[in-house]
Amino acid sequence: MNHSNFKDLTNILFPTCFNLSNKNMGTSALLSPAVLMTFLAAVVCLVAYPEVVTAKEAGITRHYKFNIKLKNITRLCRTKSIVTVNGEFPGPRVIAREGDRLVIKVVNHVSNNISIHWHGIRQLRSGWADGPSYITQCPIQTGQSYVYNFTITGQRGTLFWHAHISWLRATLYGPLIILPKSNESYPFVKPYKEVPILFGEWFNADPEAVINQSLQTGGGPNVSDAYTLNGLPGPLYNCSAKDTYKLKVKPGKTYLLRLINAALNDELFFSIANHTFTVVEADAAYVKPFVTNILVIAPGQTTNVLLKTKSQAPNATFFMLARPYFTGMGTFDNTTVAGILEYQTPSNSSPSTSLKNRPLLKPGLPAINATNFVANFSSKLRSLATAKFPANVPQKVDKKFFFTIGLGSNPCPKNQTCQGPNGTKFAASMNNFSFALPRTALLQSYFFSQSSGVYTADFPAFPLHPFNYTGTPPNNTRVSNGTKVVVIPFNTSVEVVLQDTSILGAESHPLHLHGYNFYVVGQGFGNFDPNNDPSKFNLVDPVERNTVGVPSGGWVAIRFQADNPGVWLMHCHFDIHLSWGLRMAWIVLDGKLPNQKLPPPPSDLPQC
Ligand code: C2O
Repeated sequence: MNHSNFKDLTNILFPTCFNLSNKNMGTSALLSPAVLMTFLAAVVCLVAYPEVVTAKEAGITRHYKFNIKLKNITRLCRTKSIVTVNGEFPGPRVIAREGDRLVIKVVNHVSNNISIHWHGIRQLRSGWADGPSYITQCPIQTGQSYVYNFTITGQRGTLFWHAHISWLRATLYGPLIILPKSNESYPFVKPYKEVPILFGEWFNADPEAVINQSLQTGGGPNVSDAYTLNGLPGPLYNCSAKDTYKLKVKPGKTYLLRLINAALNDELFFSIANHTFTVVEADAAYVKPFVTNILVIAPGQTTNVLLKTKSQAPNATFFMLARPYFTGMGTFDNTTVAGILEYQTPSNSSPSTSLKNRPLLKPGLPAINATNFVANFSSKLRSLATAKFPANVPQKVDKKFFFTIGLGSNPCPKNQTCQGPNGTKFAASMNNFSFALPRTALLQSYFFSQSSGVYTADFPAFPLHPFNYTGTPPNNTRVSNGTKVVVIPFNTSVEVVLQDTSILGAESHPLHLHGYNFYVVGQGFGNFDPNNDPSKFNLVDPVERNTVGVPSGGWVAIRFQADNPGVWLMHCHFDIHLSWGLRMAWIVLDGKLPNQKLPPPPSDLPQC
């Protein structure tokens, strides 16, 4: 098993060399001029690294190659073939500095259609590289390739990349780490080591079969069999003790944990026994540091925390546990993933005996449905809001939106029996529209003015039929279906209230917006009150992120400045809700100036 991908990030000290030496010297290194240049750069880099660092404030280009291929892997005593990048699970780390350009060639060697999304990357005027299938691109077909080319502007922290088609992200995901520019430092103590920690969700079955069956029968999907920490389920599952993630630490040091929730359908609580975290960043934006011993992290969210180890190596090892937060009505994977935090033994003690005799301590975690904990935790997240890292919250709003978020149903087709609510099929919607994916990519149809028959620009700004969203659910749970978008002019300042509904069960939904970060200016339980709630909005230091949990049975208000032209998907980051249609898209028109326009697509943009 190859765990080398999750060694501590010691080589971040040599990021320029890391890439060049690891990624570009692969099997297919033909002697093209580009490769030769890269090779020379690598040599220069290895020989004269310090000079390279001081000279590189403008950003460099980093090349990666993602070969999508099958790989046999064993978990929970079963071996199966999974779709991977370069045969790695979880996938390879992508590392860059703020200001760098990433050029990532994705080659599809499997029978599935593929596209890769760089989750949380702003993609300023590079919407063609965003990745969601049928939104910004047609998927990459078998034997085809596509080069994702984008620059990282104004972001630093932890993000991740993942497949953005069907449920392939179950195994196709990996960290996307953005370091500060080389002449800049963190606004917190310099960590001794940096460690990515990815939460995932493991299915014994093929996840594609799980979602296809669910869509066919209309019922809820079979739940996962395990959660994973860096791909490993840990000792609390049968036949899994050898697949346990171990974090070995030294006493008296500060570690930066880069946490990524790449699970498909579950928000997670996370804690390490007898240790606390200082949260310093969320979704690649710095936050005001705060201390907690338990975190909650939703799919699509990432967060950096500092872990200060005890000053003396304690005579114990510590479980790091994650298990779900869940309030819905359906079934869910109610299991716990465990990793182990282990202090390195001083070299003068006998490691075998002392390690074995140490007690293994377990952290406590909130109740499965601890909504109050979650609300309290999210209220602690505030933008750093300093002169250097300001919170540019739109103070005035050009256009207000109110979107309901929740489940619903579609009628069962004739001659079929369905396993959804009351014999219907499950659906999910925003403003009661369940979004149907088009057969071609929205961005292409928009850019080439060929929207006819692909989408309509009439996604409602408010629900067409208001009701008591969080009260007794209506009898009629039926959704409408369509491919509807909202079109807004360049630089519109937007406010959206996202309102959970209790139709088929109030539930927390991690809503993700592509192409933007937004500010979370308010949240509450029950129905949003447009007369009284806005006066309580935080317009000073609200947290800036790309994925926010809409509280179960509540609402959240977000604001963003629509300064990035293109087509941008907004959706629930639970894959099951996404598959059921809990998504919509924004079209942000070009501005007047040349640098406010979306350039034409690259020539290798995949065709449908
Ligand atoms: Cu990470 Cu559209 O998603």
